[in-house]
Amino acid sequence: MDELKRGLLASDAWIAPKFFYDLLGSRLFAAITALPEYYPPRVEAEILTTYRKEIAQALGTRATLIDLGAGNCEKVAGLFPILQPAQYVAVDISVDFLRDALDHLSRQYPDTDMVGVGVDFSTQLNLPADVSDKRRTFFYLGSSIGNFPAAEAVPLLERLRRNMGAEGGLLIGMDLVKPIATLEAAYDDALGVTAAFNRNVLLHINRILVSDFKLEDWRHVALFNPQASRIEMHLEALREVRVTWPGGERLFAAQERIHTENSYKYTPESARTLLQQAGFMAKQVWTDPMGYFALIYATPSRV
Ligand code: AVJ
Repeated sequence: MDELKRGLLASDAWIAPKFFYDLLGSRLFAAITALPEYYPPRVEAEILTTYRKEIAQALGTRATLIDLGAGNCEKVAGLFPILQPAQYVAVDISVDFLRDALDHLSRQYPDTDMVGVGVDFSTQLNLPADVSDKRRTFFYLGSSIGNFPAAEAVPLLERLRRNMGAEGGLLIGMDLVKPIATLEAAYDDALGVTAAFNRNVLLHINRILVSDFKLEDWRHVALFNPQASRIEMHLEALREVRVTWPGGERLFAAQERIHTENSYKYTPESARTLLQQAGFMAKQVWTDPMGYFALIYATPSRV
């Protein structure tokens, strides 16, 4: 609540992207992943399928697989037959979602030990004692790391490294720089689903803060910032808007924006550099034929 008020009162107003994910927001994000313009999930899945044998060779069988932001667990579950994990650990903020997915999965793979962990791993990573510490392989798919600038991504990755031990590894998905029109269409689709996802954050905030944002006052803006190599999402005031909540208010001028999300885009080189800064060595980099997305297997280069 304090973070929200601080962001709204800042001269360049902002809302942290974690506030997108109320129930409706999570459903809208699921809809985004089905949009023709939003290529990352499809391209990442294509890479996982095409290189499944090489991936399995790099990761080895019988490892402890720790799936960060597991959601419906379906991406990593697709690799179970080839990876034969000793244990599967699904980590997500939303435990309820996880429980259903894990129930379903454990019927399909009765011999694999499965654990669900509900934590926000961007702030801490306390894994319960029943998570095996043998050959931990972290999966961090979907380019979720892209929400963080390097100054936050490096400590987050370091925390993963310290949690995996010298024998562990990280399979991470990272979205790559590509023509601007393709990037901007992925975050401003023709159906308006991403616009709904972005604007829905105001409904979520109205419930948390008891504020009075009105949807009709705000439009969705998504643009690529080439200097920072990131997609930025904003909400732009269509007219002068006064927003109030118990104990506070903020006046927005017409066209003033609230920054709601960054999604960093990498080159294969900048991706390797980021991992290196966090004490990882990129062992293998797999991409699709268009070079839209990279899947990287990295191991600790220091402990
Ligand atoms: C979930 C952070 C990977 O940055 O592409 C999708 C979120 N926002 N469309 C991304 C998102 C708008 C997504 N991540």
